[in-house]
Amino acid sequence: MEISRTINEIRRLLGTARQAKQTVGLVPTLGALHDGHMSLIEQARKETDYVVVSIFLNPTQFGAGEDLNKYPKRQRQDLDLCQNAEVDAVFMPGTEQMYPEGYCTTVTVKGLSEKLCGASRPGHFDGVCTIVAKLFNIIGPDVAYFGQKDAQQALIIQRMVQDLDMPIEIRVCPTVREPNGLAMSSRNAYLSESQRNRAGCLYQGLLKGKQLIRSGERNPEHVIKALKEVVNGAGPSEIDYVAVVDPQTLEPATQASRTWLLAVAVRIGPSRLIDNILVDIAGPE
Ligand code: PAJ
Repeated sequence: MEISRTINEIRRLLGTARQAKQTVGLVPTLGALHDGHMSLIEQARKETDYVVVSIFLNPTQFGAGEDLNKYPKRQRQDLDLCQNAEVDAVFMPGTEQMYPEGYCTTVTVKGLSEKLCGASRPGHFDGVCTIVAKLFNIIGPDVAYFGQKDAQQALIIQRMVQDLDMPIEIRVCPTVREPNGLAMSSRNAYLSESQRNRAGCLYQGLLKGKQLIRSGERNPEHVIKALKEVVNGAGPSEIDYVAVVDPQTLEPATQASRTWLLAVAVRIGPSRLIDNILVDIAGPE
């Protein structure tokens, strides 16, 4: 497995892969890899010839007062995990490689970036789009892998790729969960054991919402209310949002949408946790 810390170096490796007519898969990450990340890497390994994982704790997607400085870093372990997963190259640039002095360009996907998580994390998705656009330009993957766990992020990236005519297929992979339903996240590391147990309420609430829809409920407000009750019933937490939206527009769901996206963001102790599920309102999946 190759480890590149510079843009020139990773481009050189990719030039060789391209000459050998290999397809390239990219899995962008912030590091502190867990089974959610590994599922994307496995998918890339199955579908593409040359798998690149990027590990870059991107400062521009963290707001002032967010957890950039305490975000878990596990470089050694990350590299071992990549090696075991038969990754071909890990791209782990320093901040000065990605944002050299004088850097001043931002990529914004308007509208979609202001909804849900964007409302409480202004500028977050600009940071995400900017770094992902740069990674796409540096690596030029055929396929890039993202998690359904961050549904809004995946949607925004798909929009960016379409709008900017980037010849890249975006694959969205299912959310990997802990046994209690908690979606895996590097931020789960901030939780105590009891908070981690309690955090299972996000998924329980989502399942409750799905069950209501399955039994015929078509009023999104009733779904939201039931979901909030599950979250609030689990113990102290601060709900950022509970939303039932159209998965393409992120506008409030109506019966015109075939599928509803049930999405939650909740603060439990030190962590802001997000989760979502898609529910086909036409019938069982
Ligand atoms: P990070 O949070 O490290 O996540 C990297 C990728 O793993 C994202 O596509 C995310 O949706 C996916 N992922 C995280 N937890 C998952 C889970 N439990 N199941 C399935 N997939 C999961 O998202 C980012 O990094 C950054 O914003 C990034 C795209 C790398 C840009 O900096």
